[in-house]
Amino acid sequence: MAPELYLVCIAILAVPLLCYVVTYTRRDARRWPPGPRPRPIIGNLLDLRGGNLHHNLARLASAHGPVMTLKLGVVRTVIVSSRDAAWEAFSMHDRRIAARTVPDTRRAVAHAERSMVWLPSSDPLWKTLRSIAARHIFSPRSLEVAQGVRERAVHNTLSTFRRRAGQEVDIGHVLYHGVFDLLTTTLFSVDGQDKLRDVLEEIVALLSEPNMSDFYPLLRVLDLQGLRRWTATRMNRVLDVLEKIIDTRLGEGKHHPDVLGALLELMTTGKLSRRNVKTMLFDILAAGTETTKITVEWAMAELLRNPGAMAAVRAEMKEALPQQRMITEADVAKLPYLQAAVKESMRLHPVAPLLLPHLVVEDGVVIGGYAVPKGATVIFNSWSIMRDPAVWEMPEEFVPERFLGKMELGMSGKDVKFIPLGAGRRLCPALPMVEVLVPFMLASMLHALEWRLPQGMSPDQVDVTEKYTSNDILVMDVPLKVVPMVAT
Ligand code: HEM
Repeated sequence: MAPELYLVCIAILAVPLLCYVVTYTRRDARRWPPGPRPRPIIGNLLDLRGGNLHHNLARLASAHGPVMTLKLGVVRTVIVSSRDAAWEAFSMHDRRIAARTVPDTRRAVAHAERSMVWLPSSDPLWKTLRSIAARHIFSPRSLEVAQGVRERAVHNTLSTFRRRAGQEVDIGHVLYHGVFDLLTTTLFSVDGQDKLRDVLEEIVALLSEPNMSDFYPLLRVLDLQGLRRWTATRMNRVLDVLEKIIDTRLGEGKHHPDVLGALLELMTTGKLSRRNVKTMLFDILAAGTETTKITVEWAMAELLRNPGAMAAVRAEMKEALPQQRMITEADVAKLPYLQAAVKESMRLHPVAPLLLPHLVVEDGVVIGGYAVPKGATVIFNSWSIMRDPAVWEMPEEFVPERFLGKMELGMSGKDVKFIPLGAGRRLCPALPMVEVLVPFMLASMLHALEWRLPQGMSPDQVDVTEKYTSNDILVMDVPLKVVPMVAT
């Protein structure tokens, strides 16, 4: 073919190709929210290097807007960072965004296919599990039945602190053991499950390693880092321990009024399989231990750092609970300032600052004027939302008073301004327990003991630097060390 003919052919082909590229890019730009330009293959991963993930996302959002697209590897993800955008998402599209993007490690031993945390909300099993949790674990009646168990567990934790009186204590370490025992006694009336605790801790720590399979789903099948295989081995160990607990219980042949008792009853009537029971117990232990412990630790740190607020809490306790030796969960209702301090600490330092990843399951989702198509992951930066200057005055300050008398600022995230436990369908199911247990634990610690800072440390030196861990949890970069003193 003559060179001229080549040129003509190229020109003829180039026109439709150019039209396609222009139209496609334009349509794409209209469709997705804006965001930093992704690089080939790695997308925006380099934009998230260093520092804390929730801070990096907030920084990018301040340049690109409260509804922003990032490409994590090849996975398009929409980040929602303002209260108004989050409100639009939860109030208009809750059902459409109520599935999860499942990290590959959670697929180990088919966990995600049975788990309340990872199943889409449209799945009948998810509905069954949530309704069992609501009815048999977190209903007012179930919580009342287990109240004594929780109170005893908290008193045991206080005894541990008392034994260490006068010494510097890593508060989070003691609390972790205390909360784990509280949950195992609530679930199956057994504490001291050290082996179970250790394997769970190992799993939760690893679930977090950044995994190539999550950024490049096509590579999933290869499990290049071996993380899914590793998780499977540990998960099987946990499931074995739970299996033995179930066997022992069934062998006893009598009913216990605890969570396992209720679940086994559902199992014998065919409403749940044995595997469902084990998965549910696993989910509750994995989702509840670290979150509760860290929330109490953050609240204690903020009170120690803010002597004015600590004095107000102590004054309230003195007045509301005069000469009481021990306090009970019911006493929490008499401590509105302490409850406000807990909420304020959860606002500033949400344990799950990016909640859990939501997945869009239907087209038609529009947030902030941008279409968020089916298949997109949606991440709510609750840390940014709860510091949004459009709805919070002095958002960086610790001011418990802002919650006093504000019924609308409950933990259920109704107006999507305060969402430490999420919002909508995927709201944390443990809310009714969390809103009493966390203030109760803190109040018990403050009531039973004096807390001094280590020698030479002043309140303003309490370090509340945040660290976003790879298992998507916000911890204190410097674990809180304090000296418990037996109150005189
Ligand atoms: C202070 C303590 C806690 C905090 C801050 C917390 C926070 C959260 C958050 C932010 C979510 C995700 C919401 C979303 O994606 O929109 C969640 C979900 C969940 N939480 Fe909690 N949580 C706490 C305690 C607990 C406890 C004690 C349990 C169990 C006993 C628990 C069980 C769960 C479960 C099973 C889910 C998944 C629900 C679903 O996806 O349908 N959480 N929690």
